[in-house]
Amino acid sequence: MNAKNIPQHIAIIMDGNGRWAKKRGLPRAAGHKRGAESLREAVRACNELGVKHLTVYAFSTENWQRPEDEVGFLMGLFLEAINNEVNKLHKNNVRIRFLGRLQQFSKELQEKMRWAMDLTEKNTAGNLNVMVNYGGRAEITDAVNEIVKGIEGSEGGGGRRKEITEEEIENNLYTKGIPDPDLLIRTANEMRISNFLLWQIAYSEIYVTDVLWPDFNKQELIKAIEEYGKRERRFGKTSEQLK
Ligand code: FPP
Repeated sequence: MNAKNIPQHIAIIMDGNGRWAKKRGLPRAAGHKRGAESLREAVRACNELGVKHLTVYAFSTENWQRPEDEVGFLMGLFLEAINNEVNKLHKNNVRIRFLGRLQQFSKELQEKMRWAMDLTEKNTAGNLNVMVNYGGRAEITDAVNEIVKGIEGSEGGGGRRKEITEEEIENNLYTKGIPDPDLLIRTANEMRISNFLLWQIAYSEIYVTDVLWPDFNKQELIKAIEEYGKRERRFGKTSEQLK
């Protein structure tokens, strides 16, 4: 593959775990378990292909409404994944971040997430961003509240302050310092954004495949990247201006 066509940042909405399981007459949990394996493969493939950032939607602010046993299973899966995978990621010089409203998770899970983030903080080979209890609207709301707090705390308060800039909002998102995704992949053929990275995907190329997330592998990732390589990214300009 042509290296110049490799996106620096890929974001994925990992959808279809439930359908994968249902097709096989298995409980939804089995789909999530296989989904975790797909994620492991995607991280490895990104490393091999030179994709610097991989951001995945693991749990949304709305996912708490799923049946209690499914939520419980997912929490257990996150814990297990941290216990089993983080040391390997660290050895491979990958930095992991858990981004979202982490304070709603159990103390144990929060501590593990913090541990994984601290351990891998200085790693430079690649970045895995796992969005958990994440919502795009929640993130923007949190950013605005951070900015307002800063204003209220400053001398003279809000009255004398200049307008809020895009840069300020960006600098208060959970993804501060991470470049915007070049490519957004959604599996299981849903044509929706589902409250994922609303701010950051303004100019991302979108690729939807009918492959279910547990079946998504390196070959499928390469297909998505090849399709991305054919797109013309114009960022609001005309085709002629880019030449
Ligand atoms: C979407 O499939 C998947 C999820 C909501 C959970 C994603 C979690 C994983 C892939 C597990 C691994 C993650 C980590 C960080 C270890 P769905 O249940 O919405 O599928 P459906 O639409 O077919 O029902």
